[in-house]
Amino acid sequence: MNEGERPYLLVTRLLPEEGMERLREFARLDVWEEDSPMPRAELLDRITDKDGVLSLLSDRIDKEVMDGAPGLRVIGNYAVGYDNVDVSSATSRGIAVINTPGVLTDATADLAFGLLLASARRVAEGDRYIRDGKFKTWGPRLLLGKDVHGAALGVVGAGKIGEAVLRRGKGFRMRLLYNSRSRRPELERDLGAEYMELDQLLKESDFISLNCPLTRETHHLISERELSLMKKDAVLINTARGPVVDEKALYGALRGRSIGGAGLDVFEEEPRVYPPLMELDNVTMVPHIGSSTVTTRRKMAFMVADGMEKVLSGTVPDNIVNPEVFNRRGQV
Ligand code: GLV
Ligand code: GLV
Repeated sequence: MNEGERPYLLVTRLLPEEGMERLREFARLDVWEEDSPMPRAELLDRITDKDGVLSLLSDRIDKEVMDGAPGLRVIGNYAVGYDNVDVSSATSRGIAVINTPGVLTDATADLAFGLLLASARRVAEGDRYIRDGKFKTWGPRLLLGKDVHGAALGVVGAGKIGEAVLRRGKGFRMRLLYNSRSRRPELERDLGAEYMELDQLLKESDFISLNCPLTRETHHLISERELSLMKKDAVLINTARGPVVDEKALYGALRGRSIGGAGLDVFEEEPRVYPPLMELDNVTMVPHIGSSTVTTRRKMAFMVADGMEKVLSGTVPDNIVNPEVFNRRGQV
């Protein structure tokens, strides 16, 4: 970027319009306007002369991408999770990585709870039942579900979103259990949540909500062994990342009814869903829409744009993932 020139950004998908306007205030944009992910070849080709990239969780921003973009100074990931970005490679090249923490916490927790309620009370199944013309009469045995109130809710990963799920559980008068990398005494004090080792949590929970990031440690955290520890009518809710669960093992457990059900917002190989899952009635699925509300997506757009502008003008944004790229004078 020459002195006095506006930074040039690659935007891999159209954001809500206010977000696009916010970006145009400080940058020139090269936007992928199709309603499908930017093809890899296109990404590699178009990033070469950019100062920044606004990426989605479906874009893999790795060494190859960074090597092809010598002027790249900031990666603005339009998500709270950033497992799609090779952060250590970015750091070693002095490229700042930013994400969207905080603004999507409640929206994601709402969806996790929506999937929990939908799974417990067989909402999607009931919807299909009506559309299939099967609703002929009220029935004492029709679509019997599972009580939410009074049940044990186990949250795996008690960061912001996990905490927000626990708070909702308290409103539903559930027993609250959690497992997390670090203990959260304030959740124990304020909500009465009980910390538990993962195995114990899996054994005691009626509903299990996954709210941890995807890392090397959490890849397939829930696999055949873990599923076998769960109660026979346990419901697994995943709004985190697909690969946290071994989808084939989950399919086996759901099909064999060794657990009760699952509510999934995320999948191992999005947008592909393991085809046999489609055949099961005891899984409720939505297409990775945890943060998808009008207000939340707008806030995410502003947060990414603000952060990118800050990085490019030499200030450290709050939503930086790798603050070590800034030196003491706050320069990248
Ligand atoms: C969505 O999955 C996100 O990480 O924001
Ligand atoms: C059910 O609709 C009831 O009135 O119990």
